[in-house]
Amino acid sequence: MSGTTIGDPAARRFVQTTTTAALTVIWTGRHSGLVPYLSEHLSSVLPTALITVDDFNTETQVFGISCLEHIIEHVTRTELNWYGQGDVIYKALERLLYHREAELVRPLLRCVVLLLGKLEGGYTSHDNNYKWSRYDDVLQIVLQNTEHEQNIPLRRAYMDSLPALLDASKMGVIRWSKRLLRILREYLEVAGYSEHDSAIPTLQVLKVYLEHCQPRIAHNSEALFQMLLRLLYDITKSSEGDGVQSQKIDSRVFQETVDLIEECLDVVIKNAPVQAHNIGSPPSLPIYGSYWFVLLCNYKYIYKSFDTLARWYNTKLLGLHLGPLPTVVACDLDTVKEIFARPEFNGRLDCYISQARAMGVTLGLFFTDSDLWLEQRRFTLRHLRDYGFARRSGLQEENIRQEVMDLLALLNSSKGREDYDVFHDGCALLPQLFCPGMINCLWSVLAGDRFPPEAHKKLRQVAEASFHFVKDVEPTGGALVLTPWLRHFGRNGFGFNGLVKGTGYVTEFFREAVKDHKKNYSEDSLRDFIDDYIQELKKNDTKNIVNSFSEDQLLLLATDLILPTAATVPAMLTFTLIMLLHHPQVMLKAQKEIDGVVGRDRLPSLDDRSSLPYLEAIQREVHRRQSLLPLSVFRRCTEDTMLNGYFIPQHTLVVPNLWSVHNDPELWGDPENFRPERFLDEEGRLLRKDITMPFGGGHVIRREKDRMSERPLQNKEKGRRAIGRPRTELMDQAQKDMEDKGADWRRVAQGEVWRDRNGRECARRHAEKTTLITPDRYSNLDLPFTDSRVFCESIALEHAATEAGRRVCAGETFSRFTIYLFLAALLQNFTFSAPEGKPIPGLDDVISGFSVSPPDFWVKVVPRN
Ligand code: HEM
Repeated sequence: MSGTTIGDPAARRFVQTTTTAALTVIWTGRHSGLVPYLSEHLSSVLPTALITVDDFNTETQVFGISCLEHIIEHVTRTELNWYGQGDVIYKALERLLYHREAELVRPLLRCVVLLLGKLEGGYTSHDNNYKWSRYDDVLQIVLQNTEHEQNIPLRRAYMDSLPALLDASKMGVIRWSKRLLRILREYLEVAGYSEHDSAIPTLQVLKVYLEHCQPRIAHNSEALFQMLLRLLYDITKSSEGDGVQSQKIDSRVFQETVDLIEECLDVVIKNAPVQAHNIGSPPSLPIYGSYWFVLLCNYKYIYKSFDTLARWYNTKLLGLHLGPLPTVVACDLDTVKEIFARPEFNGRLDCYISQARAMGVTLGLFFTDSDLWLEQRRFTLRHLRDYGFARRSGLQEENIRQEVMDLLALLNSSKGREDYDVFHDGCALLPQLFCPGMINCLWSVLAGDRFPPEAHKKLRQVAEASFHFVKDVEPTGGALVLTPWLRHFGRNGFGFNGLVKGTGYVTEFFREAVKDHKKNYSEDSLRDFIDDYIQELKKNDTKNIVNSFSEDQLLLLATDLILPTAATVPAMLTFTLIMLLHHPQVMLKAQKEIDGVVGRDRLPSLDDRSSLPYLEAIQREVHRRQSLLPLSVFRRCTEDTMLNGYFIPQHTLVVPNLWSVHNDPELWGDPENFRPERFLDEEGRLLRKDITMPFGGGHVIRREKDRMSERPLQNKEKGRRAIGRPRTELMDQAQKDMEDKGADWRRVAQGEVWRDRNGRECARRHAEKTTLITPDRYSNLDLPFTDSRVFCESIALEHAATEAGRRVCAGETFSRFTIYLFLAALLQNFTFSAPEGKPIPGLDDVISGFSVSPPDFWVKVVPRN
């Protein structure tokens, strides 16, 4: 045959009949310099190679396969597809996939990979990786063979060949993930036990799998860990000659295997999910579940009990069963912050006590969630703000100042006048002394009016009812939530009577005001929040709109505003004075600071706040030392989710333990000490960052569309002038001041960045939202007034509590301003001390309930010279 060319018809005829001749021709082709010009001879050599592949002799078949491989390698993809030649080759090779000769499997699979690379082109990022392809056909057969193969050389052959095949199928491997892992587990088990050499090719397959199936690693991480660690254990034992039945592993193989295991483990660890398992928790017993242990630990102060249990279990996220309720308690700053930030933790528990206080349905703001809460909260805050609430407004400051002046007048009078029961002989009863003033501050916004001193007695009864609400039931609602029938037992029905009667009293008190407003209502001049709500109700009536607005809802939401105003804010002020009584040097220092900045001729104003850092530090420290709502208001998880790597099922009760955060030694060093200086730098300036969170929540980001829907204030102002309480001179002056300062205080919009008057960047505007840059809006004590319409146009720093979806205390700004103005004026004018013969409460004497309250006590009030 020497001198014959491939294209020669005689030679072709000859090779078609003689296998040996075919082998020779192909051999000649491979070695006679045809490469890379094989394409023009394709039609001649391909039939010969195919015949060879079809031979009964394995050796010949292998030779045929290598010829095909050679052909595929040296023709282009297009040429291969001419007349379906590629498909013909594929069919010929596919048939061979069922053969069980190890020497054939390796070249066969190599050739298949080569062929499919040309026919399928391999997966690309644009392909639909989940479309069935010929790779899948091949993998299906090969994996099936591999799985059931017991012949050791054949098993090796498959493992040697699989990496290339898997590599070529890329993401397509995911489809075969389950079967592949099953095979690998079985192969590695055998490799660890006896076939040490086969560990390396099997691990190579695993490596390729990990590379292409990254999305599945998290799901299979546990199985992967197990198989790798088991192999490591087995071969380590074998390397030490410990294996009972296995022979000693070769040191080179051992090293190579360990290296590969390490590589694989590295990938698995990197992709493993944060562990999703149940949280360690105290055991669950009948009826109250783990609540028994909580009570056992510290039945008086549940928040301390949670903290102790968390430390006991060495976790920051404590899991419990409060009766049937799965509960998690977060005891560290980061987790608590995360809970406040994530909308899936915005739910509230709908339980018997939340319904019992509201005519059998859940209404108001505290205990509602989903659409009702969202709609009511947005409406409430938007309209309250129009009357100065929850933002810095001249109107609000003037209202508070009026109450401050009344209080100072009372404390300066020698006789107790109408308030004899709370002030006489130079001694005042706390916290009742502060309650009427606080309620009045809110009342001016809600009902456009204030109660004169003669009516303070009535307000103190409202406050007493509010204190019942907050004192009588402990923070989680505890036993009553779990076993409501307890309300029929005990003197106070385990707090039930206080809770329901307290709420009921406040609701009835407000109902009177609503009745009055309905009588005098005028569409043209809206006087206050009640009028706004009535207008909304009428609008819904006229247009037949069904939504969450109703008179009962109005009553309950106002109740939810009055309760904390009447109880929590006076409690805070009282706690502050208790701390100062125990630390007279702190009181003296604060008084000196006020004297230096404000003097004695005028009352401290909100403008002075930024110049009184020590006073501000005192308030922060009191908020920290005495968390008023130690467990915030408990939340409910609205969907299955993960927290700190733990799985939290839907409807789990989620409790942010603010007390733990405020008393964490890692954060504060000496949390048990009252030390305002911890909030100041060496030069006595207030630290910008404040990580206390007495009001829960956190920073609120306001959306652009809320900003745009801001309504002008004029019609409200008109109404107030015409019908409501007349404006005082002071109010007019304050309004004028604001208008004057407005131009100066206006924020300058520079592109997407808002700057304040000092040129500091304070907000950044994106397409849909405005993001506050200031890390803590309350560390900026220089908040400008927002009454002026000029300012309303540049509202970046305004309190943004209307942000949909965020649960924050609705009264934070109001409380902070009120407490500051009262405290500053009291310290400016009086010194407080313990009355002779009467003890003052200790620093930790608190009554724990829905919020913590101070015990009633008398304090001596001495005017300063
Ligand atoms: C020092 C006084 C106060 C403290 C320490 C305080 C603290 C809190 C806390 C921790 C929450 C739970 C927030 C959450 O679920 O993340 C809350 C909610 C609330 N607070 Fe306050 N608060 C105070 C005063 C007030 C005042 C004066 C009002 C009303 C004028 C008020 C109205 C509310 C309302 C309506 C909620 C429920 C908000 C909602 O669930 O959407 N708070 N408060």
